[in-house]
Amino acid sequence: MACFRCVFSTRFPQSHRLFLHLASPLPRAPAPTAAAAAPQPPFFIRQINMQAQNVAARLSSSGFLHAQGLVGGKWTDAYDGKTIEVRNPATGEVIANVPCMGRNETNDAITSAYDAFNSWKKLTAADRSKRLRKWYDLLMAHKEELGQLITLEQGKPLKEAIGEVGYGAGFIEFSAEEAKRVYGDIIPSPLPDRRLFVLKQPVGVVGAITPWNFPLAMITRKVGPALACGCTVVIKPSELTPLTALAAAELSLQAGIPPGVVNVVMGNASEIGEALLSSPKVRKITFTGSTAVGKKLMAGSAGTVKKVSLELGGNAPCIVFDDADLEVALKGTLATKFRNSGQTCVCANRILVQEGIYDKFADAFSTAVQNMKVGNGFGEDVVQGPLINEAAVQKVESLIKDAISKGAKVILGGKRHSLGMTFYEPTVISDVKNEMLISREEVFGPVAPLLKFKTEEEAIHMANDTNAGLAAYLFTTNVQRSWRVSEALEYGIVGVNEGIVSTEVAPFGGVKQSGVGREGSKYGMDEYLEIKYVCLGNLS
Ligand code: SIN
Repeated sequence: MACFRCVFSTRFPQSHRLFLHLASPLPRAPAPTAAAAAPQPPFFIRQINMQAQNVAARLSSSGFLHAQGLVGGKWTDAYDGKTIEVRNPATGEVIANVPCMGRNETNDAITSAYDAFNSWKKLTAADRSKRLRKWYDLLMAHKEELGQLITLEQGKPLKEAIGEVGYGAGFIEFSAEEAKRVYGDIIPSPLPDRRLFVLKQPVGVVGAITPWNFPLAMITRKVGPALACGCTVVIKPSELTPLTALAAAELSLQAGIPPGVVNVVMGNASEIGEALLSSPKVRKITFTGSTAVGKKLMAGSAGTVKKVSLELGGNAPCIVFDDADLEVALKGTLATKFRNSGQTCVCANRILVQEGIYDKFADAFSTAVQNMKVGNGFGEDVVQGPLINEAAVQKVESLIKDAISKGAKVILGGKRHSLGMTFYEPTVISDVKNEMLISREEVFGPVAPLLKFKTEEEAIHMANDTNAGLAAYLFTTNVQRSWRVSEALEYGIVGVNEGIVSTEVAPFGGVKQSGVGREGSKYGMDEYLEIKYVCLGNLS
């Protein structure tokens, strides 16, 4: 179990991203653009402890910390001056006040994005690629500070947060490379005097609505391919974690991405959503978040027939067969369950263990979980931070209460952590059944429910018995079984003997009610492209 912690810091622990640039600072950012050189907006820090104050001061002096929205390249307050507080979930302290924007600011951001689209789409792919590459370089150059910002506003342990920066920046790097490979087609003509072409063109203005659990990576995963294809964007980050989004947007300006190509608005979520949905100028909505909100966005997009990509909730089964390598299964299950304190859509939600290995697995797993250090993400050796807010803790509590009332047993944890706030004890529960709420809903917390099964057939049935279909995991040393079960699982992503599957080079997305579309990889590019067929006639 010695090395399971390292998997929390990035997607592919073996990947170069884990090791790159950790020691040597990269070259400083280039001279700021006009927008970046403008006086820095006030960054209100109050009631904040020394540690967070030091972090905030360091971030402020690095010059990319903003507490205003970005509309048409200008740092902007809400038109009525209203603000909302951004708090550190580990301490409850206010980190900053950001504008509470709504319909009017969003409409202006859409207009800016629409105007910028005309020139951005006309740049050569090579030019867009160079600017994206520069943005990637800047994100990596500021990896430490961005990681600190993520820990400050989201709570995840610093090592994991820095891992997110590498992961998130990877989408920009990959998109910079793919920008040059948006190929069309020539179709052999059925008539001698015609030539048939397929052009791929950017869809237009994109509304990107992103969650708090990956304040950077869920933005870059959308904005990277959008910009590479020639689209422009209006980003609405979560109101809980807007500062990382604003810092990333500042770096996009420094990278030479023109004003208006990237806009950021935050505040009144329903007004912003409504403005994005109702505008005929917005041609695509891309969203990561709950299934309930995703359905509303899909329905709301119908009015103007927008393209949609939705990455929604999961209910990941993690199946451990009797023939699994126990060490591999433990490492993989811990990684997929406890990444980001259980707050990812691909976290194992149900751990299905075959009866022959159940007791041994439960013992070894609980021992490993017991050793996990919980605390403020800036603390040394901390691997589990706080949950994002009180509502998240209450949801975990209610799911555990329901499970216990129906016969489940708490092996470890099962209550709030003595640290208070929204810290929750890493928890293992046994005797869980597929009918319990904890197996039906997304837990989004550090709780590992163990379910027992007898046969492969039963495991597949239990795994597929849900409306969700994002990620699934299985652990076995039987090659035939690994193929058979992978093919039988109704999921968009399957990890075999591996708990960390996310990477910018592979398609991420779900089936059933876990969403539509894919992010990352060459497939993620298609989401931002329209196909145009051109028929050239009269050539004889
Ligand atoms: C998510 O939780 O929505 C994304 C997780 C990932 O990218 O691995």
